[in-house]
Amino acid sequence: MDRQFVVREQQRLLKELNSFLEIPSVSTLPDHAGDCRRAAGWLMDQFRHLGFPVVQLLEGDGHPIVWAESPEVPGAPTLLCYGHYDVQPPDPLDEWVSPPFTPTVRNGQLFARGAIDDKGQVFCLLKAYEATRDANGRPPINIRFIIEGEEECGGHVITELLRRERKRTKVDAVVVADMGYYAKGWPAVYTALRGMCYVELHVRTLQRDLHSGTYGGVAPNAIETLIRMITDVKGANGKIKMSRLYSRVKPPSEAELADWASLPFDEAEFLSHEVTGKALTGIEGKTVFERTWALPTLEIHGIRGGFTGEGAKTVIPAAAVAKLSMRLVPGIKLSAARKMMQAAFAKVAPSYADWEIKFLHGGEPVQVDVKAPAFATLDRAFLEVVGRKCVAVRAGGSIPIVPELGLSGAPVLLTGIGLPDDGLHSPNEKLDLSQLWEGINVFGRFFEMMGEKR
Ligand code: BES
Ligand code: MN
Ligand code: MN
Repeated sequence: MDRQFVVREQQRLLKELNSFLEIPSVSTLPDHAGDCRRAAGWLMDQFRHLGFPVVQLLEGDGHPIVWAESPEVPGAPTLLCYGHYDVQPPDPLDEWVSPPFTPTVRNGQLFARGAIDDKGQVFCLLKAYEATRDANGRPPINIRFIIEGEEECGGHVITELLRRERKRTKVDAVVVADMGYYAKGWPAVYTALRGMCYVELHVRTLQRDLHSGTYGGVAPNAIETLIRMITDVKGANGKIKMSRLYSRVKPPSEAELADWASLPFDEAEFLSHEVTGKALTGIEGKTVFERTWALPTLEIHGIRGGFTGEGAKTVIPAAAVAKLSMRLVPGIKLSAARKMMQAAFAKVAPSYADWEIKFLHGGEPVQVDVKAPAFATLDRAFLEVVGRKCVAVRAGGSIPIVPELGLSGAPVLLTGIGLPDDGLHSPNEKLDLSQLWEGINVFGRFFEMMGEKR
């Protein structure tokens, strides 16, 4: 591995990455389907340029998957690298200092939607491959890439593909670079991800909106009813009132809790710098790690209904919708969560309301045993380049395809180059460029080290 690669090629690499980030591949918005396809095309061009003999666009009922295979290195192990080219919607737009799809560097940070989640990380793996290949005059190892376009919107194209075609995951190890360091200088490997159950709660209390003076005082208000139902299910103390929810949770082991307790953590700094609020909320008596990594949540993402335009309109809304999701932890299966949600809202719904839960998408919680030899190799690469091995932590976020990536028994390495304050899904998402250069060297060394094992 040539550590000068990132120094020498910096300007070109930035230009290439910018051209990827400029594509507004927002998978959840139908208007951007063409942009998703363009992002897939951008990747295919990269793989062809890198000399990959197999570059495929795999179609399904949604945004396509890009599949690529490096030139065969006989006898060498095979790695599968997963990532996603789709991004979250950039809203709220007016909070971006520079526009979300006009990548801009300020203070060594590259700001753009997708800069870290996940285009910047996919780019990091691509360039790590390029750097090692150029340094050694041959590819270090057999590499396959699977880059999907529906991670952020709960699509099924990749799930169906991997269930149907097991041989794609018959590899020696899978690398998922879609997360981050625990802190600057503290690379991480993840032992668990939370699952997800995303729904809409629809409530109707009237056939039509009414004058709030004529009928105010007697007519049931749909937004008020919706809010009461939700706050009845989730109390002010953060506890979710679903029967047998917490008793199902598989608690973290003593060893895990001890590991977490030894991590450097400053709650005040976490509050001001990352959370950016005035206080933390949630279940009392549980640490931040337990609340974000090892307990379920119920979150309101948005409420629609009534009048929200400029000015004033005096109306009693007849209907309202809330977008809600639960994060699931080991012990709580998606199917159980769906039933518990249905039962909990049935219990609190007033008889005058018509209501319905519409399931949008979900994913199971995952736990990863980090004992396979590939994890030790990853540690060695980080130790050599960063000066520290990975800390084993959990993630509060979800990557629904992870169970399928491990279907053929390969170890799944959940890791990445992000930093805690990157602001994924938020305005002014960024990639710390020093992380990108470091990451290219780390993964380049990882590819070489894995390739030595034959
Ligand atoms: N990269 C994230 C997941 C993540 C975030 C893992 C932080 C670890 C730490 C991923 O792109 C993501 O945002 N996933 C969604 C999945 C959901 C839409 C099913 C999530 O977690 O909200
Ligand atoms: Mn991601
Ligand atoms: Mn994401």
